[in-house]
Order: sequence, then structure tokens, then C-alpha cells
Amino acid sequence: MGKILKMLGDILFALSINLYNQRCLNKIVEKGTRPVVETSDDELIPRPEIIERLKKIFQPCKSQSSYHMVCGEHGTGKTTLIKIASNEVGCGVIYVDIPANLEELGEAFGRAINFASVDHVSLLGRLMDKPKISEWGSAIRALDYASEVYKAKHDKPMVIVYDNISHLVHKNPDILDILQDNAKHSADDRKYITVFVSSEGSVPRRMQLIEIGDLTEEESMDYLVKKRGIKNIKDAEKIYGLVGGRIVDLKNVADDFCAGKSFEVVKQDILMEVEDKLRTANLLKNYQHYEVGKHVMNVLLRSKELSRIAYEEFFNEPAEAHEILEANIFSYHPEKNIVTFQSRSVEFYVKNIFY
Ligand SMILES: Nc1ncnc2c1ncn2[C@@H]1O[C@H](COP(=O)(O)OP(=O)(O)OP(=O)(O)O)[C@@H](O)[C@H]1O
Ligand SMILES: [Mg+2]
Repeated sequence: MGKILKMLGDILFALSINLYNQRCLNKIVEKGTRPVVETSDDELIPRPEIIERLKKIFQPCKSQSSYHMVCGEHGTGKTTLIKIASNEVGCGVIYVDIPANLEELGEAFGRAINFASVDHVSLLGRLMDKPKISEWGSAIRALDYASEVYKAKHDKPMVIVYDNISHLVHKNPDILDILQDNAKHSADDRKYITVFVSSEGSVPRRMQLIEIGDLTEEESMDYLVKKRGIKNIKDAEKIYGLVGGRIVDLKNVADDFCAGKSFEVVKQDILMEVEDKLRTANLLKNYQHYEVGKHVMNVLLRSKELSRIAYEEFFNEPAEAHEILEANIFSYHPEKNIVTFQSRSVEFYVKNIFY
């Protein structure tokens, strides 16, 4: 008797947490998660065209039936821009940061949608002889329900943004498959629109793509001179010549420079990092892919870009072409279907040291 009462108590507890969570979630969807933007306003380079494109995606029309991928190399500013745009839109935008440690996936969902622990809820699953319901799985189901409430009220779908899905690509493609299937079905049903954010070039073709690239020369110089106080234009030009408009590199070099490191020391550090990447990719002299890599680099130095097919034609094996493309020396741009150097610093190394 005592056992039965305890079980009933547990079931009621689980149900009340479910109800409580669902109410919290509906409120959050209404307001949007409004993730904190780490970059301070006085260091921020506004990128209004990209923000406008993102805001359009975050405000889908009633009949919107596609889902999206925002891609771009590491450190091009994807997360920052996504967070700014989702804050500006607010209502109906849920931002979920996929953690590097996938054990924390349930927590990440919990944080995004302010879920109370659903551990207890899994008891219900056990009692009903169902397999244990994972925390993130129940969060997704709850989101599904919240999207119906939102749609009924606003007559348009809400938006879920999954940042850093690259963490799933290699470690747990099964979860990525589930998220992608959900994205497709919910878009087909006009329930919610999913936006994936990734630094991996390979994406399913059926997604609508937005690629976030480097800052322009003017934006980069503005960042160095006006935002970071590097008053000597010649120094700023040298930094831009070395790392181009990759915002994360500009930031790191500006940090070092402002902390008193000389340009020469900063340059040596960057070139050593590139050399390490070439070593890991087996592209240095006497390494496995040196000869074929040299040919690709030679053409890229002259023409800046290659079509994907032209790039692949350098290789005897498609697997070799793919392996080298994964190694952060070259970069594939799905929106234009071209291959380039991965960054200005790689190009700088190849031009000044490799040859
Ligand atoms: N528009 C900007 N103006 C000034 N600083 C920026 C801007 N965008 C990004 N940054 C800074 O550059 C760094 C990299 O930005 P962010 O993390 O947004 O890039 P990311 O593309 O998401 O990187 P990753 O691929 O590693 O996730 C951060 O330190 C961020 O504060
Ligand atoms: Mg990011």
C-alpha cells in the first residue's frame, strides 16, 4: 500500500513538473531566449547586411517551409551575429548552444528553455515500460508542443537555433540526424523553423544556406584603428596583411599587440600555428600529401579560388581530396561551391615561407 502511494506521489510529481515546465516554456517562447552577446558595444563592428538577412530568417512568414544552415569558418563571427539578430527579434526565437561535451546536452536544452530537472519524469517512462526518456529528448518534445501554442497565437512558426552543431557532426551524428529529421518534418508541417549554425563546410543540400565570411578590409581597419586603438595605420595594415578579415584572428592579434607584443613576435606565433596545421595535414615537405598539396596551393595563390570539381581533379582518390579539405588548410564554401585557402594567415605562410 505504502509503495503504491509513493508511486502515485511520484507520478503526480512528474506530471506537475511537466505542467510547470510547459508553462515556463510557453512564456520563454513568447519572449525569446535573448542570449547574452559577449562582445561589448564599443568593440563591435556592426554588420548590418548580415544581421538583416538573419532577422528575416528569424521572422518567418506563415507558410515558410524551409530550414536553414548558417555556416562559416571558425571565428568569422557567426555566434555573435546570430545572438545579436535573435535579441533584436526576441519573440519566438529559441537559441540552443550545443556543448562540446555531449553529456551536457540535456543541461544545455534545460538552460535554453529554463527547464526544471526532468529526471523524475523518466520515472513515468519506466513505469509505463518505455525506455528511459533522455532529458534533451523530452525538451524537444516540449518544444514541439510549445511551437503549436505559439503558432495558434501568432499564426506563424517559431524559430529554434542550434549553434555549434559541428560538435555533433563527428561525435554523435545520430543526434544530428534526429535534429535534422525534426527540422524537416516541423518545417514541412509549418510548425517551427530550424536554423543550424556550423563551422563545417559539408551540409545537406536541401537546406537554405547563409555563409558568414570575413570582414572587409575597411571593416577590419575600422576594428583595429577605431575599436582597438591601434593608431599607427602602418601597424594596422601589417596586421590586416597577415590575418585578413577573420575577426577572431584580428581580435587575438590586437589583444597581443595592445599587451605590448611586437608585430614580429605576433607574426612568428601565427606562422608557427599555420606550420603546425600543415604538419597535421601531412602537407609539409617529405610528408604524404606534399606534392599534390603544392599544386593546389600554387593555383590558389594565382587564382584565389577553385571550383570544387577543379580542386578534386588534383587528386587520384576522392577520399584524399576530402581528407585534406577537412584539415583547415583549404576551405569549402557551400554557398558558392568553391574552395579557397582557409584563411589569410595560411595564404601568407604559403606565399612567404612554403615556396
Ligand atoms: N562584429 C564583431 N565585432 C567585433 N568583434 C567580434 C564581432 N564578431 C565576433 N567578434 C569577436 O570575435 C570572436 C569570434 O566570434 P564568434 O565566437 O562569434 O565566432 P564564431 O564564428 O561563432 O566562431 P566558432 O566557429 O569558433 O563558433 C569573439 O571573441 C567575438 O567577440
Ligand atoms: Mg560560434
